[in-house]
Formats: sequence, structure tokens, C-alpha cells
Amino acid sequence: MTTREPARRYDAICTLGLEDVLHSELEALGVNIIGRRAGAVGFEADRELAYRACFWLRSAVRVREFLVNGRVESRQDLYALTSTVDWSSMLTVADTIGVDSAVDDPRVNHSNMPTLVVKDAIVDALRRRSGRRPDVDRDNPDTPVFLSLRDGDASLYRDLGGASLHKRGYRDIESKSPLNEAIAAGLLLRAGFDATKHLVMVDPFCGSGTFLIEAAWIATDTAPGTLRSFAFERFRDRDATAISRIRNEMTRRRRTTCPVQFYGSDHHPGAIWIAKRSAQLAGVQTCTRFEELDIANYAPPETPNLVVTNPPWGLRMEEGPGLDAAWRGLGTFLRRHAQGADAWVLSGAPSVTRHLGLECAERVPLKAGPVDCRFLHYVMRTNPTATRYEPSGIVDDATSESQATTAESSDQGDSANSPHWSQDAMFASGTLSAEAQQWAQPDNQPSTNFDAAPESAPTAPEWNEPSQSE
Ligand SMILES: C[S@@+](CC[C@H](N)C(=O)[O-])C[C@H]1O[C@@H](n2cnc3c(N)ncnc32)[C@H](O)[C@@H]1O
Repeated sequence: MTTREPARRYDAICTLGLEDVLHSELEALGVNIIGRRAGAVGFEADRELAYRACFWLRSAVRVREFLVNGRVESRQDLYALTSTVDWSSMLTVADTIGVDSAVDDPRVNHSNMPTLVVKDAIVDALRRRSGRRPDVDRDNPDTPVFLSLRDGDASLYRDLGGASLHKRGYRDIESKSPLNEAIAAGLLLRAGFDATKHLVMVDPFCGSGTFLIEAAWIATDTAPGTLRSFAFERFRDRDATAISRIRNEMTRRRRTTCPVQFYGSDHHPGAIWIAKRSAQLAGVQTCTRFEELDIANYAPPETPNLVVTNPPWGLRMEEGPGLDAAWRGLGTFLRRHAQGADAWVLSGAPSVTRHLGLECAERVPLKAGPVDCRFLHYVMRTNPTATRYEPSGIVDDATSESQATTAESSDQGDSANSPHWSQDAMFASGTLSAEAQQWAQPDNQPSTNFDAAPESAPTAPEWNEPSQSE
């Protein structure tokens, strides 16, 4: 008789706007979903299912195991709450620890202070048992701990992934504006990418090729965790048998042939070089083809069923000149070369999308890093004149608002000069989870630094008096 271990509680974290996608992914995995908030879906699962979530979730950036929650009014309270966790069941002094946090509490003027308190409490708990203390490793700890502190409500988690789950392992060179892999995959799922239906997919602003590579992994049933390792593989209390079972099954499931042909182009030679290299590392070089061409000159070898693309938004200086032409070029490209296709365009600026001159059938709000974006769906008709660009009166995509499936405000108030989307209930409501706020930070920006000294005078003594370990 096999006994099932008790379910534990976890949070899966995604970028704002992809909660539905993440929810569906978790349901398909068979976990028990227990809650949802902006940027996060809570679930219950045994260890093996939680490991599967790390290996298989395409839209998640984190999976965290819940440890404890409580009200904390002071650093002493937080120290006491942290001390209630049985740390010695998870790690020994030979393991390194790292504490990261998302702090949103007006009484705390140095967000690293609560992090220090948690680190001290863990170190002290282990020192009391063995007389020695574990080392701290901020970059790649054996046990990554996460603190969420929001208005006195503190929760501690153990991060199962370690490095963010968007780091798939096929990108070893940084390009200028790559799309986060988890967002790209989540958007593909949101667009309903289906390898039995979308046999030709094109991205004419492919950059480093993220959309196409992620789609090729979906089409070949390649787990997004195939090429990487996870923090839980180093946990003392890991289930090593379950991990090797998942890895073997992952290898068996992966298809060696791909039913879809993927075409990408970009005018930047460096981007094409990186796209080809990443496709090679991802093992999808045979079903992807990249060309160095301007959108004005690009004609894909086959008519696509699906176009998913992320044109420049004008957020960087060098994108300024030619930006409108790039978007106009995309409109022309879609009308000429993508008749009958579904086209999905990720835009971070409403002032540029109008140059497409196409009617938008659906718009999905989301955050890409710190930027409010819209994922815009255009249904390309087979009659090219039906969606013709009118230079004297641009067809505003806001006119099709009634067709949108997302319950949010229209873009009609946006003028060509407005850098922002119109009011968006989701992002303005303050319902952002602490984790989601942290996620919205640029990727290379550390959220906390527990060795950094306070920069100014503390405001709340209970929180900001010197740490025990200083
Ligand atoms: C936001 S980036 C796309 C990033 C891409 N999704 C990735 O994952 O790396 C926009 C891309 O459009 C390309 N681009 C800009 N103007 C272009 C044009 N007129 N023709 C072709 N590519 C262009 C840029 O070189 C850049 O790689």
C-alpha cells in the first residue's frame, strides 16, 4: 500500500494579466486550486506535483511553498514568527540560505530590514541546534526563502525554483529587449496556439526569437524546465525518486519532430544571430528559420495561420526614428502576407498601435516588466481591402471595443500623443500582490540586499532598530 503524503500549500506567480492562463495550466496539472489574487494563483499539492509545476508551468515565474503566516507589528514579532518554522527539517548548516522579500508596509522604511530579521532568525535557529551557522548566498542559495510583508501581514515561503522560471536555459547571451520567456509562453497560450491547427507561425519582429522558440517547445511537448535545474533538487527533504521520475517522463514525452514551421525575421543582424543560437540550444533549429530583413521587405516562405509579434514600442531612444514606419509596415505585412491568419501583437504604447490601421477584435491587458501592455488580436480576412489602411483617416482599433473579451476600459481616450493606456482598473486598483509588484521590477534589479546599510534615518523604531547581527 502506498501512502500519500499530506498536501502542502503553494503559490505560483505570474506577470499581471496572465492569471487565467496560469490557472488553466495548474488545473491541467491536476493540483487543487485554493485561491487567486493579482499575479498569483494558490494551490495545494504533494511534493511531486509541486515539482511538476516547476518543470511544466510555462507562464509562471515562481512556485513557492507556503511556510507560515502571521500578524507582525515589530521586528521582534517577525523574528518570533520566523522561529516557529522547523528550519532544521529543511536544511543544515552546510546549506546556504538566501532571503528575498517584497515589503509594502509604511512603517518599514528600509525594505531590507525585515529580510535581515528573517535571515537572523533562521541562522539562530540552526545555530542553537548545531553551534554553527549556515552561510548566506544571495545569488544561488540552496534554500531560497521569500518574505511577503504587507501592512503587518507576513508570510514566509520556500522558493522551489531558485532562479526565476522564465530562465529556460536556452539563452546564454543577453539581447537588448528580449521578451521574458514566461510572458511569451503565457501569451501564446492566451492566443490559443494549437500545433494541430497553426501549422505555420510567423514573427516578423522576432528579435531573439522568444515567441517562436517557446511555441516550438509547446508544439513538441518540451517541458520549459527541460534544460535547467531547480533549487528543490538541492533541498535536504527532496523526493529524489519523484524528481528522476519526472525527468524521465519529460524526456519520453518530448517529440522529436515538430508539426509546425516557424519563421522569424528582424532587421537587426545581432538579433538574428542570437535567435539562431537560442533555437539551436533549445533544440528547435530544424523547425525554425530566421532571416535578417526589414519588415518592409519581408515575405515569409509560406502564408502563416498565426502571427505573434512584439514590435518596438519606442521606449528606447534608438527606437524613435522609424517607429511609426515599423508599425505601418506591420499593418501592410499582415494585409499582404497573413490573409486568413490570426495575428496577435504585443504593444506597450497605444500611440504606435494606431499605425497598424487594423480593427482589433480583442485586447488583453498585462504587464511586461514595468510596462502596461496590451496583447491585441487581429483577425486577418482573406479579402485584403476589407481592412485597408486609410491614410486620411486611420482605422482606430478602439472602434472595435465591443468585440473585446476583457472587461476593461477602452483606448478611445488615448490620443496619438499619449504615452499611456487609458485608465485600467486592474493595474490601478492596488490589488497587486506583493510578489507581483516585485515581479514587475526589471529582471536584473535585486529586490532586496540584506547586507546593504540603511540610507536614511529610520521612521518606526520597532522595525528599524539595528539588527542583532550587525
Ligand atoms: C521589442 S523587440 C522584439 C523582442 C523579441 N520578441 C524577443 O523576444 O527578443 C522589437 C524588435 O523589432 C526589431 N525591429 C525594429 N524595427 C524593425 C523593422 N523596421 N523591421 C524589422 N525589424 C525591426 C528590432 O530589431 C527588435 O529586435
